Amino acid sequence: MIRLAILASGGGSNADAILRYFAGHPQIRIVLIACNRKMAGVYQIAENHGVESIHLSRERFQSGDGYLPVFREKQVRGLILAGFLWKLPPTLIQAYTHRILNIHPALLPKFGGQGMYGIHVHQAVLAAHETESGITIHRVDEHYDNGDVVFQTACPVDPHDTPESLGKRILQLEHQHYPPTIENYFSQLPN
Ligand code: GAR
Repeated sequence: MIRLAILASGGGSNADAILRYFAGHPQIRIVLIACNRKMAGVYQIAENHGVESIHLSRERFQSGDGYLPVFREKQVRGLILAGFLWKLPPTLIQAYTHRILNIHPALLPKFGGQGMYGIHVHQAVLAAHETESGITIHRVDEHYDNGDVVFQTACPVDPHDTPESLGKRILQLEHQHYPPTIENYFSQLPN
């Protein structure tokens, strides 16, 4: 069994889609949800799925042990970032080389980097009059939105789109593609 943890910061709709997809999966199990915000929807989602959740303190995560002992204790083999807004500390990047995936709500390398998250991304896409946007699933390294791309798919930007309407279309794509991409990626890695 490949044991994975999800790191999230907010509503957790991707976490929910991932937990649904892997419920009863023969090879992959989500064993932990870690969140950096105290009041986030993702705790309730974890509880609904009977998965343990923890709150990450900034100090321990960014300048302490990065919670590596917690992940190790739960035999976590990979990390899934699902709307997680903190940069990962070198401790985790090194311990989980090639075993951390992130999803970004645009077609990287466009509209990535620090400060480019959630609605800000969709605002920037519309301000640039792009005719398409999409999602990128990539490996995580020490820089924001930089690692190797594992999966991308595009969708049209409607001339009448608002950041919210575009965001909704993108989120649907994320829910559809992130779980099977995680499945393909981790089932091909040596355990
Ligand atoms: C998702 O759209 C994800 O791509 C984005 O945050 C949203 C989280 O939604 N992540 C980033 O912008 C990272 N740069 P969720 O909490 O409902 O899954």
